Amino acid sequence: MFKVFVTRQIPEEGINMLKVKGYEVVVFPEDRVMTRDELKENVKGADAVLSLLTDKIDAEILDAAGAQLKIVANYAVGFDNLKLDDFKSKNIYASNTPDVLTNTVAEHTFGLILSVAQRITEGDRFTRAGKYHGWEPMMLLGNDLFKKTLGILGLGRIGSRVAHHGAKGFDMDIIYYDVRRNEEFEKEYNARFMATPEELLKEADFVSVHVPLLPTTKHLINAERLKMMKPSAYIVNTSRGPVIDEAALVDALKNKVIKGAGLDVYENEPNLAPGLSELENVVLTPHTASATEETRAAMSEVAAKNIITALEGQVPPNNLVK
Ligand code: DGY
Repeated sequence: MFKVFVTRQIPEEGINMLKVKGYEVVVFPEDRVMTRDELKENVKGADAVLSLLTDKIDAEILDAAGAQLKIVANYAVGFDNLKLDDFKSKNIYASNTPDVLTNTVAEHTFGLILSVAQRITEGDRFTRAGKYHGWEPMMLLGNDLFKKTLGILGLGRIGSRVAHHGAKGFDMDIIYYDVRRNEEFEKEYNARFMATPEELLKEADFVSVHVPLLPTTKHLINAERLKMMKPSAYIVNTSRGPVIDEAALVDALKNKVIKGAGLDVYENEPNLAPGLSELENVVLTPHTASATEETRAAMSEVAAKNIITALEGQVPPNNLVK
């Protein structure tokens, strides 16, 4: 009987799929991130591991599991927590959960954009604090999205969907930067390709970050590049925290180098850069951009499908080890 180790409780849909197959499914019983030692101990003897983005999986963990390990299925679309070179050298599959969370993350991205530009969470704090004493012509003025320029940094699935919402929902002009040009996308959304991130930063009223975390994208947004943005511009990040130099962002927000930001991800999660949470011109969510009941259930099913396929001796649909 195959043994599957799940590093934390996830929606039952995927777990049930594994149980129906007759696998022995062990879920770490405590609702917290496992320590590295616990992870090493608990993966021992597993044929498959269902991991989270908070679990760092490298050769040490793969070795601790043992030679029978076939796959580590990550419950996330991002996979910077998996050291893929180690998987490759050991011939072990790794997989992620693309597609099923695209709409949800794009919706959340717009939630952040609307929230910071129209000062929704700030207004909520203001109202709850008893500061609303009647309608005022100059109270909490924000900015429109309509006809503004939305700059997409990284035109993958989620970036494209955010562009779609911007163009179709808010009549925004779309510009984008990606390592690859996409002329079909340009035609569909009347979008303009920017040859460098700098060009995009100079022109966009709203910058939405969707690049994966790679050595080349760490601190892609740094103090120097923040200064290239318009003082009236906003930046939103639902990809990975280290893509933005968070201390530099705090400085830029404090000193009005840019107007505001919306963040779902942080450089050193779960910690925030000093001063970030004290700022009014930033909206912060706790890495919940994919956190809807529908999407998290679908992610658990995709992870389970990857495991089942690998244990049945085939290449999992979302294999990352090439
Ligand atoms: C992912 O899937 O990579 C997201 O960050 C999880 O919400």
